[in-house]
Amino acid sequence: MRQIVYISSMRRQAAIDPAAILGQSRRNNARARITGLLFFDGKRFLQALEGEEAAVDAAFARIQADDRHHALVVLSDRTIAVREFGEWAMAYATPGEAGDALEQVMRLSMGADPAVRGTFAGFAQVRAAA
Ligand SMILES: Cc1cc2nc3c(=O)[nH]c(=O)nc-3n(C[C@H](O)[C@H](O)[C@H](O)COP(=O)(O)O)c2cc1C
Repeated sequence: MRQIVYISSMRRQAAIDPAAILGQSRRNNARARITGLLFFDGKRFLQALEGEEAAVDAAFARIQADDRHHALVVLSDRTIAVREFGEWAMAYATPGEAGDALEQVMRLSMGADPAVRGTFAGFAQVRAAA
């Protein structure tokens, strides 16, 4: 299985509707048996995607081509023996709720590799402090 973690920035002109991204992702990822976590802080996305190689490749190609975000950078790309995220989830930090987002991210990344979990925690922490 393959696991990819990337960060990207929301395109400024894009009308981002987190609920719409979540709905699309839930449906497609359930079908492709992709699990992971998407964290959106209002400006940037941090996402982990994992599953069978071909399924992750296809989903990631679609996501990369999505012009709602840009400046996408892959932070890690690993072969994994077992899934680290048991489900598909999205955590969304709105101003004033950043502390809740940090708590959500910590819970949702409980099974993840320490380096991957640290990436999510660090990102959410910076938002909580902002
Ligand atoms: C930050 C971000 C993360 C996304 N994550 C996923 C995802 O995990 N799975 C997925 O199928 N689509 C995801 N999408 C949406 C895809 O880019 C694309 O719009 C969608 O897969 C098209 O599916 P549809 O043809 O069923 O509408 C994401 C989009 C953005 C902007």
